[in-house]
Amino acid sequence: MKIIMLGAPGAGKGTQAKKLADKFGIPHISTGDIFRANIKNGTDLGKKAKEYMDKGALVPDELTVDLVMDRLAQPDCEHGYILDGFPRTINQAEKLTEALSTHGGEIDYAVNVDVPDASIVHRMAGRRVCPACGASFHIEHIPPKKEGICDRCGAELIIRDDDKEETVMHRLSVYHAQTSPLIEYYGTKNLVVDIDGTMPVDDVFNAIVEKVGE
Ligand code: AP5
Ligand code: ZN
Repeated sequence: MKIIMLGAPGAGKGTQAKKLADKFGIPHISTGDIFRANIKNGTDLGKKAKEYMDKGALVPDELTVDLVMDRLAQPDCEHGYILDGFPRTINQAEKLTEALSTHGGEIDYAVNVDVPDASIVHRMAGRRVCPACGASFHIEHIPPKKEGICDRCGAELIIRDDDKEETVMHRLSVYHAQTSPLIEYYGTKNLVVDIDGTMPVDDVFNAIVEKVGE
């Protein structure tokens, strides 16, 4: 099963992608997580990506496309994957379509998690993430059992650098200009599954599973 997650920043793509990956036993590939790991490890890629991410801009396709293609060529992707945060431009989507078509394939679903902009700002303001294991919480909606501490691994939770309100507003405008056209791109291929992302996490998850099959 090859699924891509579409939706605005903060729509809940990562939250759902992790659950779907667990359910289907396939890898969760998040370009945002890959860039953040590179930033943490001080790699050249991390240094370059950080300049763009901190402003809420997209990392250039030259730094993104090959990275994802290499990851998709790994043996653990043989039975599928959940792509979260890629593709994000029409050019990236075309590159993915091209790469898959060399094996006669295509993605199975583009899951579009729909949340209005007003709720997005609230979600990002309350988001807390675990720098060690990548788990994501929300101080009101999905609070950790112990304030400021990751339920899964016990590390101290942090606020993402790009979750400042002005950066969030810019990320949203980048989303509307460059990423939302992908809904039409995959819509014309009849691959889009629209999901109301404003429901509680488990309801969103059940709605996705109902559409993409057990
Ligand atoms: P990336 O890490 O992909 O960020 P994003 O797309 O902006 O998405 P987020 O991770 O912010 O949100 P999400 O939809 O995963 O929501 P989450 O589940 O965390 O990208 C970051 C940056 O990297 C980009 O700006 C860009 O610079 C660069 N980049 C990445 N990929 C790129 C690419 N392909 N090309 C170029 N540049 C790229 O949920 C959000 C919050 O809401 C959390 O607090 C969560 O707990 C809460 N929440 C989740 N679901 C619910 C619910 N149902 N109800 C209530 N609260 C909920
Ligand atoms: Zn953790």
